This record gives sequence, C-alpha cells and structure tokens, in this order.
Amino acid sequence: MQCVKCGHLVKSRKNVVFGVGDIHSELMFVGEAPGMDEDRKGEPFVGKAGQLLSKIIQTMGLERDAIYICNVVKCRPDTPGQRHGNRKPTPTEMMTCLPYLQAQIEIIRPKVIVCLGGTAVEGLFGKAQMGIMRLRGTWMTFREIPVMPTYHPAYLLRNQAITEKRKLWEDMLQVLERLEHPISDKQRGYFLNG
Ligand code: URA
Repeated sequence: MQCVKCGHLVKSRKNVVFGVGDIHSELMFVGEAPGMDEDRKGEPFVGKAGQLLSKIIQTMGLERDAIYICNVVKCRPDTPGQRHGNRKPTPTEMMTCLPYLQAQIEIIRPKVIVCLGGTAVEGLFGKAQMGIMRLRGTWMTFREIPVMPTYHPAYLLRNQAITEKRKLWEDMLQVLERLEHPISDKQRGYFLNG
C-alpha cells in the first residue's frame, strides 16, 4: 500500500493484491492483474477464474495453500466510468510493477513457474513474438527457472471445448513431471474423451 508508482491505480484500488500462499513452494502461478473480486479481497484469483484455478490445482493433487500465486501487476487496472468488467494491464503498468514480481521470484526461487495467459508471459518476458496459442506447452526459462506458459483459466471459462481443457491439462502434466510428482493413470487420462 506504500507504492504510488501508478498514480491512477493508487486512486482506484481498494487493496494491493501482492500474492498468496507458501513462500517455500516449488511452484508459482503468475497471472496478469487483479480483477474487481481480487481488489475487494486483497487476494489473487478469488473470482470465477480463480475458482477454476483452484480446481486445476486440486486436480493436480496439490493444495492451493501450499503453492504461491500472484500476478504481474499488483493493483487492479482501473476502468473509469465502467461499473463492470476488468481490463488488461498496459505494457507501462506491467513494466512499472515488474520489479516486485522479479523480487518475489528471487525470494521464492520456485522449481517451476506457470504463466497463466499471454499477458503474464508478456509481463515477465517482454512483448512476446508469438501468441499464447503457440507458446503454451513449451518450456521457457526465466533466470534459470523453467516457465510453463499455458492458457489463462478465464479463457477456459469462455471456451469450454474439451480439446482446449486437455491442452491446459497437458501443460499441467508437464509441470508435475518436472516437479517429479507422481501422476496417476486417472490424472493422465483427464479430458481425453468427452
Ligand atoms: N485474473 C488474473 O490474471 N489474476 C487474478 O488475480 C484474477 C484474475
């Protein structure tokens, strides 16, 4: 709440949504920015997309409290004159806030980072050459830490196709393998056929 680098966001925010979870976690999820629900609660991923993220984490056999979840931008991007909806953070907002995420990563030093959606990838790596449709599923590296780009859960709320769910799930299987977590046959088979 001490940070006043983005004057417009300082004026509109209720809370700074810094991050939540276990700072000793091997796994870190990074989203783009808080929405209205997150701004109200001061916690990332507590709205509809957040509920889906919690389900994904559970299906991976993990506990939400035991991992670390945050966003590239810590304050909700303002939407002047709008009563509903959220907006993507701008490149300037992401660049201004990036030192906080970099520090979080340096302190936590997770074994794996998952970037949720193209905006999170852009925030961490700069303007991506490719969209998330092509980036997802292929390992990237940030300061020697493996990064898995995948779909943002909000995308899966809009596109309910099982083939798209399977793609995100395959990305999570790759993450579990990298963390050397056991994977059951049941887990391997999710979203293969309707
Ligand atoms: N979407 C995000 O990218 N982050 C949140 O915290 C909530 C929704």
